[in-house]
Amino acid sequence: MHSTRKINDGLIYIGGSSRRINRFENLFPIPRGVSFNSYLLLDEKTVLFDTVDETVGKLFFENLEYALDGRNLDYLVIHHMEPDHCVLIGEVMRRYPDVKLVCTAGAIKMVGQFFAADVSGKALTVGENDKLSTGRHTLHFLAAPMVHWPEVMVTYDGLSKILFSADAFGTFGALAGNLFDDEFDFDKTWMDDARRYYTNIVGKYGIQVQNLLKKASALDIAEICPLHGPVWRKNIGTLIEKYQKWSTYEPEDRAVMIAYATMYGNTENAANVLAGLLAEKGVRNIVMYDVSETDVSELVAESFRCSHLVLAAPTYNGGLYPKMEAFLSDIKALGLKRRTVALIENSTWAPAAAKVMKAQIEGMKEITLLDNPVSVKSSLADGQISSIDVLAEKIASQLS
Ligand code: FEO
Repeated sequence: MHSTRKINDGLIYIGGSSRRINRFENLFPIPRGVSFNSYLLLDEKTVLFDTVDETVGKLFFENLEYALDGRNLDYLVIHHMEPDHCVLIGEVMRRYPDVKLVCTAGAIKMVGQFFAADVSGKALTVGENDKLSTGRHTLHFLAAPMVHWPEVMVTYDGLSKILFSADAFGTFGALAGNLFDDEFDFDKTWMDDARRYYTNIVGKYGIQVQNLLKKASALDIAEICPLHGPVWRKNIGTLIEKYQKWSTYEPEDRAVMIAYATMYGNTENAANVLAGLLAEKGVRNIVMYDVSETDVSELVAESFRCSHLVLAAPTYNGGLYPKMEAFLSDIKALGLKRRTVALIENSTWAPAAAKVMKAQIEGMKEITLLDNPVSVKSSLADGQISSIDVLAEKIASQLS
């Protein structure tokens, strides 16, 4: 049975949410599910904005048929060719053979790759600032390469002041009936997922996100319709403020994140001692994560949020404990910068963890590495409390 929501008199939400997919991109855990958004504009011409993941395909086609109410489909605007949005394009073309695809040249190439079909005769290729009149509405296309793939574009509808933003401004999390950001407490229920989505999906492409924000700032935007998560109409400023920080790698909070790897609890103990000393020195904003217990996507999100990172890990196979190595390699690949980092290593013989962590950190930009690492021999010795205290004092003095 169809389940749609009206956005305005001419625009209908026809996407769907899934709580049965365990991982987004088969990689990121999504315990709250995810929505795959699609929108239908009913003007003199009918315009479908993107399709959805096949997991919600049945609902999508019921919604599309219901919303069209017997009308034909004239255009399918393709903002992004990742399969969570594009996989049903072939089926849309089969059901609505007169439909014209509207997308970038890069997207057309990908349609050929994904569907092994020559659609050039059925496509209207658009580029930066091209426009398409659909009757009362004029769609204005803007390129947004690498937010999140190279073929991405966004669409601005000047009549309704809506920006269809592709992956930008999206978030993990299934919708529960409510669609608009003012229908729930976004900060409380969605912000962590929005941060985890942004940092892991488009975190690497800060410059490209900045370019998109510049283009968006020239538009009079009343609503943002992304491909995942709620439609924005009330707190757009809050979200843009977050995007400014995330895309320039500015920490959101003056806070300490202690990420530790531990095999038998000894490195964890050193991390706990540091946390206690930080608290005694007045630091209130401290979070701690065991990298074996916390998914790396959450560690990534928290490292984008916090100003100070303490990484504590044992030596393993003459190198670095693998879970810490994976986390470090992830934040390096995502281009995280502008952080202060301190290291604690643990080894029973031949310490190597700090050396490997240092080499990784030195390969990142604009990272301040605090002094020499604290090197624990099997377990924290009485004589080493002072070196942990020195580290705590240094961090506390920066945060006061
Ligand atoms: Fe939601 Fe990059 O796809």
